[in-house]
Amino acid sequence: MTQKVDVLLGLQWGDEGKGKIVDVLTPRYDVVARFQGGPNAGHTLEFNGEKYVLRSIPSGIFQGDKINIIGNGVVLDPALFRAEAEALAKSGHDITKRLYISKKAHLILPTHRLLDAAYEAAKGDSKVGTTGKGIGPTYTDKISRNGLRVGDILENFEEKYQKAVARHRQILDSMNFEYDLQATESEWMEGIEFLKNFRMIDSEHLINGLLKEEKSVLAEGAQGTMLDIDFGSYPFVTSSNTVCAGTCTGLGVAPNRIGEVFGIFKAYCTRVGSGPFPTELFDAVGEKICDLGHEFGSVTGRRRRCGWIDLVALKYAIMVNGVTQLIMMKSDVLDTFETIKACVAYRIDGKEVTEFPFEATDKIEPIYAELEGWKMDMTKVQSADEFPEEFNAYLSFLENELEVPITIVSVGPDREQTILLQK
Ligand code: GDP
Ligand code: IMO
Ligand code: MG
Repeated sequence: MTQKVDVLLGLQWGDEGKGKIVDVLTPRYDVVARFQGGPNAGHTLEFNGEKYVLRSIPSGIFQGDKINIIGNGVVLDPALFRAEAEALAKSGHDITKRLYISKKAHLILPTHRLLDAAYEAAKGDSKVGTTGKGIGPTYTDKISRNGLRVGDILENFEEKYQKAVARHRQILDSMNFEYDLQATESEWMEGIEFLKNFRMIDSEHLINGLLKEEKSVLAEGAQGTMLDIDFGSYPFVTSSNTVCAGTCTGLGVAPNRIGEVFGIFKAYCTRVGSGPFPTELFDAVGEKICDLGHEFGSVTGRRRRCGWIDLVALKYAIMVNGVTQLIMMKSDVLDTFETIKACVAYRIDGKEVTEFPFEATDKIEPIYAELEGWKMDMTKVQSADEFPEEFNAYLSFLENELEVPITIVSVGPDREQTILLQK
């Protein structure tokens, strides 16, 4: 019988801890594949006292000889990819033989990065707060049928590249945006040469063939549902479908091939960049969460905005993704709190609302349930038997509200600080 693809994706505004859990789950799978996003992602993994941040390379590369795939839905910057792959090789992880790259993945050009900066500058105060990696302009070119793909580097690439750059230059000049392309272009071209060391394939054939051979596949999401181009807090979103359906288009697997959907969330909430965030805290509690959770972006170093968990947004994310199992991260960050709040509804113009609205504006006033804190160091806990009563009460409360079982709890950044719950 043909296997199914399990999907792991973020349910909030990104940085939920996807990288860590993909690494933990990888031993159960034969293949790990990224299906969307690009180097705007920063997935952190910690084990054996080492810390790695992956941007374009799937988080399945550290657990034995698994096949890793960068799917067609991903956008790839060859210069950043090279830096990432070379750093891994230096630390003893040569991925050349284990990584396949879809020929259909789109290339992020140096001019896409410039366009990202130019569009952000033009937006002024209403800027998205992008990661500056050229994500939006690359997906724009893909959709407007002007993009360059990984497979394009195999034939007449220089010509195709120059044509694209000329078009981008026109836009940049029309915006009076000053830039120095030379500074990054040669490094980028070296990245293109470096890519040729890898197997560039039509990865949809590989994945479907492996599924037929009953090999198991884990699809690794980037960003989070609330940053999805369709369902996120538009226009403060990324430019890809981060939701489960993105797996089908981003890897070439049919909807009926999707198996388990692991939805991952923090015990609280963070957001980096601009845009609405109903439960954001501007007080000492928010500061405390930020400090204890080391909430600084792994790609840009920006301080992440912090707040209480938002169950209105989480329920919405569970709905659009068809989540079958929940994974709660960073529980330990709340260890010292007397009480913990969870937003169960919004009040908008005096009315109580439990459906995530079209526009999450400043008018939203969160309505909170308050739970007792567990006030215990969770970082050393080895099994669910050791969970304090208040922590179990928090888990039950969430499961009851969200109507999906929590099957994994994370109590620290290390691979070992992961508790699997028997359900
Ligand atoms: P991703 O983008 O979803 O992979 O998440 P990031 O790596 O950007 O951000 C998650 C951060 O939290 C990383 O620095 C992780 O090392 C860290 N982390 C993951 N799980 C836990 C946890 O359970 N507790 C704590 N304290 N940190 C964690
Ligand atoms: P991971 O995979 C958190 C945010 C940016 C910005 C918006 C658009 O590590 O969870 P973009 O550069 O994509 O055009 O930026 O999306 N953003 C992320 N926030 N985690 C991420 O990835 C993000 N990738 C993009 O901050 O608000
Ligand atoms: Mg991240």
